[in-house]
Amino acid sequence: MTTAEQIEVVRQYTQSQLANDQTGHGMDHIMRVVKMAKQIAQGEQIDPFLPVVAAYLHDTIDEKLVADVQLAQRHVADFLKKNDFTDEQVKVIMDTISNISFAHTLDGKVNLSKVAQIVRDADWLDAIGAIGIMRAIYYGGAHGEKIYDPAIEPRTNMTREEYRDLSHETIINHFSEKLFHIKDKLFTNTAQRIAEHRQQVMIDYVAEFKAEWHGEQ
Ligand code: ADP
Ligand code: NI
Repeated sequence: MTTAEQIEVVRQYTQSQLANDQTGHGMDHIMRVVKMAKQIAQGEQIDPFLPVVAAYLHDTIDEKLVADVQLAQRHVADFLKKNDFTDEQVKVIMDTISNISFAHTLDGKVNLSKVAQIVRDADWLDAIGAIGIMRAIYYGGAHGEKIYDPAIEPRTNMTREEYRDLSHETIINHFSEKLFHIKDKLFTNTAQRIAEHRQQVMIDYVAEFKAEWHGEQ
């Protein structure tokens, strides 16, 4: 199998797994993360093959999307072995997709491989900027969140459990609780450069929003 053929079967695998997604992790998110992972890998002078494969697969074992994470992990690993990935490649890919979620990083410092750093940066870049604003609103709407409430203070230093219990959050608080911090948590210089502009887009948006809310515009 050529690497191009391997990438194509991986793309099809992900498409079949995420076909019915309604959580903002559909194929459009995956394709943006894949493209970004490739761009970051090239910027960091790393072979984009494994970052691209892991980017395709990064949400197929997410606890929000599958009932049984361990079963989903075994399923992905078996699929990779059947499609000519070496044991070493399977290990790097599985480590990457198992360790990149935001909740994981709240548990403490995990040692991520360069491939995992690239994929996590690519995933997180998709949560900021204009796309990030839209995804936050889309997610918040689907989960019955308020748009904004000046009486609800943003939370700081959330535990993993608190982070998962988002029922009382407002969409605007999601920016100060998570999205504004992403820029400083990125690993690669390439991603940090891309994040500068996206950060400013969000800062300007929230400032405008609050000015209009308080009748100052
Ligand atoms: P990931 O793609 O890393 O798995 P999440 O599932 O945590 O990310 O979030 C998916 C999208 O929904 C992201 O853009 C994120 O910013 C947004 N989101 C997550 N939680 C909330 C929330 N409580 N309110 C608004 N947006 C949210
Ligand atoms: Ni993702």
